Amino acid sequence: MAEQLWKGRFSKAVDSRVNDFNSSIRFDQRMIGQDMRGSGVHAVMLANQGIISKKDAEDILTGLAGIAEDLASGKLTIDPAAEDVHTFVEQTLTQRVGDAGKRLHTGRSRNDQVALDIRLTLREMSESLQAQIADLVLVLCDKAAENTASVMPGYTHLQRAQPITFGHALMAYVWMLLRDLQRFGDATARMNSQCPLGSGALAGTTYPLDREYTALSLGFDHPCENSLDGVSDRDFCIELAGAISLCMMHLSRLSEEIILWSSWEFKFIELDDAFTTGSSIMPQKKNPDVTELIRGKTGRVYGDLTTLLTMMKGLPLAYNKDMQEDKEAIFDAVDTLSLCLRTITPMLETMRTLPANMRAAAAKGFINATDCADYLTKKGVPFRDAYKLTGSMVAHCIETGKTLEELTLEEFKSFSPIFENDIFEAIDLINCCEGRRSQGGPSKASVKAQIAAAQAQIKNWEEQHHEQI
Ligand code: ARG
Repeated sequence: MAEQLWKGRFSKAVDSRVNDFNSSIRFDQRMIGQDMRGSGVHAVMLANQGIISKKDAEDILTGLAGIAEDLASGKLTIDPAAEDVHTFVEQTLTQRVGDAGKRLHTGRSRNDQVALDIRLTLREMSESLQAQIADLVLVLCDKAAENTASVMPGYTHLQRAQPITFGHALMAYVWMLLRDLQRFGDATARMNSQCPLGSGALAGTTYPLDREYTALSLGFDHPCENSLDGVSDRDFCIELAGAISLCMMHLSRLSEEIILWSSWEFKFIELDDAFTTGSSIMPQKKNPDVTELIRGKTGRVYGDLTTLLTMMKGLPLAYNKDMQEDKEAIFDAVDTLSLCLRTITPMLETMRTLPANMRAAAAKGFINATDCADYLTKKGVPFRDAYKLTGSMVAHCIETGKTLEELTLEEFKSFSPIFENDIFEAIDLINCCEGRRSQGGPSKASVKAQIAAAQAQIKNWEEQHHEQI
């Protein structure tokens, strides 16, 4: 049966309900690899500094390697009654290597240990989330490349506004996701900059630690400058949860588009049967559950961020047990985003686009009205007058059930003698799109340039993260 590391001062056993309440092993056991890595480096540093013997350090390293091996093979399982992962590792090690195990905690506290372990764990989680975002970006770029000529209505206020292409719309999400990728990189770099190990419980230690050595060996830029800060801030969890929340917000918006686009009202896309679900009563139904769940889970992740912010806001220096709550919240945010990315990427990869329906929707709604006004403006009519005139033409079309391109030249001329045959070219939907060559616009050339730039950013990311993947 697991024992508390701190039981010496106490004359009574702790109530089992308090033990259960206090224990974090259920959720901190996933940091066991990182915990042992930190312990190994700490032991080597202690020996280098003459604080423990070389033999003790060797025994500790052999013991830790044995624990890792036995956990992997299933010979050793994590004791659910242990107070936390740190306790479990130290006690198992001591059972195996005796006194050397008891020397491991010299000059260290669980407070700097846990602050280290979360950083090491989140660093890896952030890498794998970034790799998933990169995959999604590439899938969207491929879909966009297939749809640079798929004209569809662009919307404002969910009202048909101006012609764009489906490729142009998808690339908007690519740029959001690339900023997310950058945000994860920024948050992780800050997380990796200051190593808390060596802060002790709060006030450092009297042992001659080599903090530079532990920091560099564990992949940090340098040790943290202040021991109180080292053990007591969780800003890096909050920052990561912030990046995750923003990414979820982007996925949620994309999900909302997918829900609309796949509805009968739009029918711009058809999701693969493997990524939709049916109804138990309505045989015709094909529901975009995946996207609805992503939209729903976004709220849950915002909840995780709020949990972390609220947990920290009233805490005096330094460590407080409240902070144990950090792990469930941040791990939930990480797991949720990962789950969403793992599902949305193949869903988008297998989705079928229906350009004829997009084109048909684009033909309605007078989305070339601006182009008609621009035509007149380019022939010398002041824009405001051209705008008014085109407005009256739209009203006439609505009355007569026509689109602008269905008007005859005579009808055009009845509104203004300036109209010539070239008006039909000017309001042709494909030309309207192609004419929008401004950088970032929907023309084929612009969207292709965006795709190339986005793919280059991912290639760059892959090169930088080569060792980690
Ligand atoms: N399980 C604890 C946590 O996650 C580890 C640190 C315990 N420190 C302490 N002083 N009780 O925060």
